[in-house]
Formats: sequence, C-alpha cells, structure tokens
Amino acid sequence: MALNEKVALVTGAAQGIGKAIAEILLKNRVKVSMVDYNQSEGEATSAAFGRVYGAENILFLHSDVTSESQMQETFIKSMEKFQKLDIVCNNAGIIDEENWEKCININLVGLIRTSQLALQHMGTENGGSGGVIINLSSLAAFHSLEMAPVYTASKCGVVGFTKALSMSSMKKQGIRVNALCPYFVDTPLLRCQHEDGQKLFSAMIQSNGPFLKPFEVAEAFLELVIDQTRNGAVMKLMPNGKIEYEKPPTLSEGTQKPT
Ligand SMILES: NC(=O)c1ccc[n+]([C@@H]2O[C@H](COP(=O)([O-])OP(=O)(O)OC[C@H]3O[C@@H](n4cnc5c(N)ncnc54)[C@H](O)[C@@H]3O)[C@@H](O)[C@H]2O)c1
Repeated sequence: MALNEKVALVTGAAQGIGKAIAEILLKNRVKVSMVDYNQSEGEATSAAFGRVYGAENILFLHSDVTSESQMQETFIKSMEKFQKLDIVCNNAGIIDEENWEKCININLVGLIRTSQLALQHMGTENGGSGGVIINLSSLAAFHSLEMAPVYTASKCGVVGFTKALSMSSMKKQGIRVNALCPYFVDTPLLRCQHEDGQKLFSAMIQSNGPFLKPFEVAEAFLELVIDQTRNGAVMKLMPNGKIEYEKPPTLSEGTQKPT
C-alpha cells in the first residue's frame, strides 16, 4: 500500500506504542485520527505532533474503546474531517489482573468493536475502498505470562480473532487484517503496575535484557501496512528486534484426530 495521502485511525495514541505508530504514519504523510481516553495526554501529544507535521493532518478524538456510542461517534468525526479511511490500528490496551473484566473489555471486546466499525467504514461492500486493520497482540499470546493470565488470554483472543476475520474480510470487504505481537516494550504500560506487578516486571528486565523501544514496534507496524501479500499473518517482534512470522498450521496438524 502506498502511504501518501492515506488516512489512519489509531486507538491508544496518546502515549507509548500508539504514539510512536501515529508519528511514523505522520512522517510518511498519512493523516491520523488519534483516539484515546486520556484527554490531557492525547491533547498534548496531538498538539506537539501538529507543530511538527501540520495541525490539519491530525485529529485528536477523546473516546473510550469500550463505549459503542463513543466509538461510533469517533469514526463519524474522523470521516467528516478526512473524508475517507484506509488504515485502522487497534492498539489501546491495559494490563489489569485485578479488574480483569475491564482488561478483557478494553483489550479484546473494544478491539472487536473497533474492527467492526472499521469494516463498516472501509469495506467495499459498504461503499469504502478497502484498507488494512492491524491489531496489537503480544508475544504473551505465544509465551504465557505467569503473572498476567487475563492479559495473556486477551492477547490470545486478539490473534484468534485476527486470523479468523482475515479470511472473510479480504474476500467480502477488500480489507487485510494482521496481528502484531511484540516482546516487552519500554512504555508506561509496564511502568504503571501495582506494587507486586512492578516488582515482577523489574525482575524480568534484569533476567531478559533490555525492552524494545516504541519506534521499533512502529517500524514493524509500517512493514505490515505496506506489505499487501500477507493478509491474516501474525507478526512476532522478537527480543532482539528481529521479525518472525507465525508458522501457519500444516494440513496434517489441522486434520489430526484428538487422542
Ligand atoms: N509495552 C509492552 O511491553 C507491550 C508488549 C506487547 C504488546 N503491547 C500492547 O501494545 C498496546 C499499547 O501498549 P503500550 O505499551 O503502548 O501501553 P501504554 O499504557 O503506554 O499506552 C496505552 C494507551 O492506550 C490508552 N487506552 C487504554 N485504554 C483505553 C480505552 N479504553 N480507550 C481508549 N484508549 C485507551 C491509554 O490511555 C494509553 O494512551 C497494548 O495493546 C499492549 O497490550 C505492549
């Protein structure tokens, strides 16, 4: 996909990985609707980007991905401002094992809702021009986090949803769907944990080496957006920054009878 003059909507764009993704898109002349429920941080980030990349290319939308009505309004406002939509990045996410239903609601239910709205607004069956949806999962979908089973479940759900949706979305709506699964990334997500969580994460830093930087995830994201040959692919961003794609199941694995 050529990026010039495209329009993107990124959830959780106020800080961390979403902020880096919004910036790499703006650098590549994509107009960006930045969605976040943190109004002060979102406004500050979008104002700072506006000074560098042009305020006319950016729209900050204060919205919670768990709210159907707010997200409907968000898509409508984005379409009113930019007239079209080509790229949707489902990035908003939290780790919260205590409020575990909130964690599932944001990481998985909100992501499914936003994907459905993306299909409505970009899908060729609905008068759109097609496009691409990139869903933020995590390497936790493949290497379970002992201290975060609910977060792990949400990210496994994102991978399953992405692979299944990609089968019909391309055929029916001209929309590619991919999942991006990074190793730990140096963002506020890992720094703002409860007391116990903080201790566990700092122990992991020492045992697992340095975390990835948000710009490395943004570069991997851009590769998925541009590459039109990998609909349904699940990209892993490994601790050394290298990209690997999940091996698709072989036919024999798929047809094996349970023992
Ligand atoms: N940091 C990591 O180690 C890591 C690794 C793999 C995957 N991820 C995933 O990447 C994504 C971004 O994580 P991050 O590390 O940048 O986190 P972060 O906490 O730095 O940023 C997340 C952003 O999402 C926003 N957000 C959260 N809930 C929201 C909601 N309900 N509605 C709207 N906005 C909401 C927050 O306000 C924040 O701006 C998440 O899905 C996370 O699970 C992170």
